[in-house]
Amino acid sequence: MFDRRFESADDPLFLRLKALNGERSRLAQSFEYNYGDFIPILRPFLRGYLRICEEVKETRLKLFKDFFLEERKKLASTKAMDNNGLKCAIDHILEAQQKGEINEDNVLYIVENINVAGTRASVHDRDDAVVDGVGDRGAGVNHGEIQEKLRRELDTVLGPGRQITEPDTHRLPYLQAVVKETLRLRMAIPLLVPHMNLRDAELAGYGIPAESKVLVNAWYLANDPGRWRRPEEFRPERFLEEERHVEANGNDFRYLPSGAGRRSCPGIVLALPILRVTIGRLVQNFELLPPPGQDRVDTTEKGGQFSLHILKHSTIVAKPRAF
Ligand code: HEM
Repeated sequence: MFDRRFESADDPLFLRLKALNGERSRLAQSFEYNYGDFIPILRPFLRGYLRICEEVKETRLKLFKDFFLEERKKLASTKAMDNNGLKCAIDHILEAQQKGEINEDNVLYIVENINVAGTRASVHDRDDAVVDGVGDRGAGVNHGEIQEKLRRELDTVLGPGRQITEPDTHRLPYLQAVVKETLRLRMAIPLLVPHMNLRDAELAGYGIPAESKVLVNAWYLANDPGRWRRPEEFRPERFLEEERHVEANGNDFRYLPSGAGRRSCPGIVLALPILRVTIGRLVQNFELLPPPGQDRVDTTEKGGQFSLHILKHSTIVAKPRAF
């Protein structure tokens, strides 16, 4: 987004951002957040909690402003902002501000929003998906035959040892199916993001008063035994056979890993290729195995802010392949 990267995991700015994002995430999952949201009469008792939320919000916004927005603006005033003719996302957002289409606060909140949505879904949920997809529950450690089938596809289409890049992913239907199946069985954001209907509505005979908080159980829609064949199985083949027309962009209301409609995930077009290349590279280059002495990885889950997470993190064995 800013055409920048941290040089190492010890970069002081990276460490500050990580700590602040961790604190934001902790506050958002706290018991206070839940009871204040669902039992409004108890909100007056939340003053201490809300004060900390306010402080964290101010610190994060200041950091985004000082270290990202101002630096980008400075750079833009001293040299051309293009990277071989390609502008990065923030340049378009700043351009909209210059044209008066949005104001400075809007810019700051877009950066904040993408930071939460992109890194949370990417770092946590996408990491889960990577682990699920190639590791413990998916095409890997607990499903050796799927891992092997994927490796065969990669070797046949690319040739052994030729590293997968984004354009290749369009010629790898099984890899695409593995990612889809991972997002179905281990949906990253199972209840999507809360929505609100502006007007009174009726759905399946139920009245929904205006301004209700609406949660969509997307995980159940994608795992409903009445609508999917053996949904409890990790079976990528379903997306090449009976569900071959189903895409992750919301073209089928049984499968909404990125939501649907105007408020659906704008980042999924970035996330899907990243997931495919990450999973592809891992399976191409390594045989993924359970820790020594174990024949499976324990996949028990625990609750998280929006989704379930793996309870016990395991170190899996990545055995390099000889080409
Ligand atoms: C595997 C990765 C990802 C998954 C599964 C995912 C999933 C979702 C879901 C389910 C929603 C809510 C949609 C709804 O309620 O209808 C959402 C919203 C959003 N996502 Fe993602 N996301 C991913 C990655 C990303 C990335 C990489 C970015 C940004 C670079 C991003 C940016 C956003 C934003 C800004 C929203 C809010 C959209 C709005 O409210 O209008 N996401 N995402």
